[in-house]
Amino acid sequence: SGFPSQLRNGLSKLGVPSEVLEILFKWIDVEDYPKIPEAKGAIKAIRSEAFFIPLYELYLTYGGIFRLIFGPKSFLIVSDPSIAKHILKDNSKSYSKGILAEILDFVMGKGLIPADGEIWRVRRRAIVPALHQKYVAAMISLFGLATDRLCQKLDVAATDGEDVEMESLFSRLTLDIIGKAVFNYDFDSLTNDTGIVEAVYTVLREAEDRSVSPIPTWEIPIWKDISPRQRKVTEALKLINGVLDDLVATCKRMVDEEELQFYDEYMNEQDPSILHFLLASGDDVSSKQLRDDLMTLLIAGHETTAAVLTWTFYLLSKEPSVVAKLQDEVDSVLGDRFPTIDDMKKLKYTTRVINESLRLYPQPPVLIRRSLEKDVLGEYPIQRGEDIFISVWNLHRSPSLWQDAEKFNPERWPLDGPNPNETNQNFCYLPFGGGPRKCVGDMFASFEAVVAVAMLVRRFNFQMALGAPPVEMTTGATIHTTQGLQMTVTRRIKPPIIPEINMPGLKMEASARNSEAETQ
Ligand code: HEM
Repeated sequence: SGFPSQLRNGLSKLGVPSEVLEILFKWIDVEDYPKIPEAKGAIKAIRSEAFFIPLYELYLTYGGIFRLIFGPKSFLIVSDPSIAKHILKDNSKSYSKGILAEILDFVMGKGLIPADGEIWRVRRRAIVPALHQKYVAAMISLFGLATDRLCQKLDVAATDGEDVEMESLFSRLTLDIIGKAVFNYDFDSLTNDTGIVEAVYTVLREAEDRSVSPIPTWEIPIWKDISPRQRKVTEALKLINGVLDDLVATCKRMVDEEELQFYDEYMNEQDPSILHFLLASGDDVSSKQLRDDLMTLLIAGHETTAAVLTWTFYLLSKEPSVVAKLQDEVDSVLGDRFPTIDDMKKLKYTTRVINESLRLYPQPPVLIRRSLEKDVLGEYPIQRGEDIFISVWNLHRSPSLWQDAEKFNPERWPLDGPNPNETNQNFCYLPFGGGPRKCVGDMFASFEAVVAVAMLVRRFNFQMALGAPPVEMTTGATIHTTQGLQMTVTRRIKPPIIPEINMPGLKMEASARNSEAETQ
């Protein structure tokens, strides 16, 4: 019974319109089609913990595609690389962002992440050119300066012997970076914690809560006005929109005063931001749409990279041998310089560490779609209007796709091999998605993470703090820790090279000297 659907799939790939296929295949009894396995009674587990964990267990039982039923609603969970490729790339035009667009509407409107159809096409075409090579190269200096600010903060903690909560520091680092990069605004959130910074966090928390909340209370008209929390969200959005409007106005004045000649790879040295590029390019767009796009870029570029850094440092804390190799590379490539674009090619092992961290902790852990028409997934026909979760978490940790899937092993990616991506890994690895909706900030984000990791491990050693709470996962849009990533930082002094002496009695003295050097 798999044959008709394979045939249909094949014809669809050859470009036979779905209306024609409909008629051709009408004679085939629907009962002939295999039915998607259904996971029932698994709903309780979903509520209690990060929801992608039980989905992994169900994947091991039910396979690469199964249906999860919640009362009247159901979701298709996809963990199969070829089905993921079909949805994201080969037949992407038959899918929209579905629930995601509904959840994010209050903050992103018709911004690039939730937008579909013509609006998406037009905005994607306007925004992608802004992230050109020269822009990304200029951003490397910004990453360096921002990370240096974090280093100064950690320096104080190292001197005072105080533990630091790295997850919130990474969130602030990446907020500072994305604010400058997108609309030339310095949140300075590492020192400043009120007003606009608080407003950004209020909105982010709300977006995350909505994405895991089963009942959309925020849609109840009166609730919006009387719930203190919803009022706070409304206030925060007003504040942010005001700031954005001011930034747009300031930038418009700058562009007007500029002797402007727009060309490919255009960049204003005073203000290299994406906003400046868009205005200079004559991007003809409503102010609401522009604000939606700026908010989308802010949120997309902020929490994701922060989460990548958090989980990278968590993984590193458990693998001292990886840290040693990393520090070797950083010492020899950078010495005490700030990183430049040329260093990005040379920091190969650092890049592999990020690649591997993105495999184990993909951000976001699932991609959301809705079918706009009938389709066939693998051997299964599906209807229009199906809500689909592509579990990148399952793909990246599948025991049938990876050797020692659970192990943090940057060595699995050869240093002289290509940079792993969805194409060269056949959709078994898709840290930035794939197809037309692939992340527009993949280069930006990879370099940002490489610069931050390189500069931090060069200056400091990081360890889990004594008595730190266990590091457990929870989800919003990205994977967070439940109680933060509490670490101890010590300034790094290269340990003296200890000669190999085969006398066990001396070993302790050597290691004592070593740890003394480290804590100086
Ligand atoms: C889309 C991951 C950083 C802007 C995506 C998607 C993924 C992703 C998986 C695809 C979503 C889907 O198909 O549903 C990441 C990760 C990042 C990161 C892991 C950090 C390590 C950034 C940055 C920016 C950005 C820094 C902006 C400068 C976007 C935008 C989209 C997107 C605008 C939507 C593209 C579209 O729908 O056409 N990202 N991203 N991302 N990302 Fe990123």
